[in-house]
Formats: sequence, C-alpha cells, structure tokens
Amino acid sequence: MIRFTLNGQPVALDVPASRNLLWTLRTKLGLTGAKYGCGEGLCGACTVLVDARPVPACRIDLARVEGRDVLTIEGIAANGRLHPLQQAFIEHGAFQCGFCTPGMLLASLALLRRNPHPSVEDVLQALDGHLCRCGAHQRIVAAVQAVGRQAGAGQ
Ligand code: FES
Ligand code: FES
Repeated sequence: MIRFTLNGQPVALDVPASRNLLWTLRTKLGLTGAKYGCGEGLCGACTVLVDARPVPACRIDLARVEGRDVLTIEGIAANGRLHPLQQAFIEHGAFQCGFCTPGMLLASLALLRRNPHPSVEDVLQALDGHLCRCGAHQRIVAAVQAVGRQAGAGQ
C-alpha cells in the first residue's frame, strides 16, 4: 500500500511502488491537470509539487512520494475561488491552448513561496525547462510578477 498526501487529503493506493506518478494521477485518481508532453522530464507539462518542490511527474514513481505531500493543479484553488496566480494568468492572457499552464502555475507557485517578489530573471529561471509552444512566456512572466506584487498571494 502506497500512502501519501494529495492536495491536502490522505491517499492510500494498492498499486506497485514502481508505478509512475503521472500515470497514477491521470488514470487511477482522475486528476488530468498534469499533462503528458515529452515523458522525458524536458517540457514541464507534467509538473507537480512534492514537498513544495516542482518535479516532473512523468519521471518519478510512487515510491518517491511515499509519505510526502503532493500538490497538483487541482489543489491550488480554495473555497471555490481561483488561486491569485490562476486569476492573474487569465487577466494577462498568459495561455493559449493551456497545455503548459498547469506546470507553469505550479512552478510559479513554488517560486512565489520561496521568493515572494521575483525579478524577471527569477521567473525565467524558475520556468526554465517549461516549454510553451504557444509563445505565451512574456505574458506568463508578467502574470507571475503581478502576483508577486500582491501580499501573501503565493500562499
Ligand atoms: Fe514530464 Fe514533459 S511530460 S517533463
Ligand atoms: Fe499552449 Fe503554453 S499555452 S503550450
């Protein structure tokens, strides 16, 4: 039995510890926000936070999250309200097809939690390795910086 915390709730799964996390989220738990892009840890589309750190879910197995805290895009809105980052992405038009967006949001959230007022360079560095085929990077950076100007928005 694999046990971990998922979006604040305890999870116990009777599956092999070698099972891939992204596959488990999408097909076993019905959480399809994390996307399968490259499967190689190169595009960032599958990013989730494990103990507050961004990781490519396509590249880790369940043994790596045993007893840990996993946050997916489905877990960042609270009480029926979008997270400020989600709201800022909408207001800045920071996505087009949306395929990269969950990973971009989670990597940005991790950044704001450790650095509430990031520079452009900080945002670019945090999102390095997150590909956006729609070319929304400039608007994504603007959205993250806008949230950085709001007190406590990274919580
Ligand atoms: Fe995981 Fe691309 S699908 S990094
Ligand atoms: Fe389409 Fe980024 S919005 S890949």
